[in-house]
Amino acid sequence: MVPRHNGGLDWSFIQFDEKYTDRVTDLANRSMSETYNEKVILDIYRSWREGFILLMAGDEIAGFICGSRYSITEARILLLAVENAYRRSGLGSMLLDRFLEICRKSGYLSVRLEVRTDNDGAISFYRRHGFSITSTMLYYYSDLSDAFQMWRML
Ligand SMILES: CC(C)(COP(=O)(O)OP(=O)(O)OC[C@H]1O[C@@H](n2cnc3c(N)ncnc32)[C@H](O)[C@@H]1OP(=O)(O)O)[C@@H](O)C(=O)NCCC(=O)NCCS
Repeated sequence: MVPRHNGGLDWSFIQFDEKYTDRVTDLANRSMSETYNEKVILDIYRSWREGFILLMAGDEIAGFICGSRYSITEARILLLAVENAYRRSGLGSMLLDRFLEICRKSGYLSVRLEVRTDNDGAISFYRRHGFSITSTMLYYYSDLSDAFQMWRML
């Protein structure tokens, strides 16, 4: 999916680098209900560097996605966020497509993720990208709210 508007900015994918840790942590905390600290972000990066991608709008981080190796055949999306101002412009889709491509090249056969059961926007987004709900995980989050597990083949 190509962004519908970019305000004249140059979009580019880059690999996460440790110098972006504070900005990514900030975006994660502004976008999601869980609280993340810089150590968590760095731990995710160090566990699977190729799976941590930023989408830049000029010098600004417009969004990011990161994941982990869940099993030999399955990857997992851990965090995905797009800056509020850029949402519904195709950037989340670009990040997800890029991530899925990296998973395919790494030999994975499927991808899973967890999403809050009340996060209707993200659930619609993932459904649109071929994910299906496979189970409900009760009390999954730190505030004891539930998660849907979603899954798709690559
Ligand atoms: C989920 C998120 C990454 C989507 O990013 P995005 O750049 O807005 O997504 P896209 O523009 O590529 O959306 C593609 C399609 O997904 C669906 N979609 C995306 N956001 C949606 C929303 N809020 N409500 C309903 N459908 C939505 C739509 O079908 C959309 O196509 P359309 O705009 O033509 O209707 C973004 O909303 C976000 O950062 N949310 C906060 C963090 C979060 O919830 N992350 C997921 C946690 S698992």
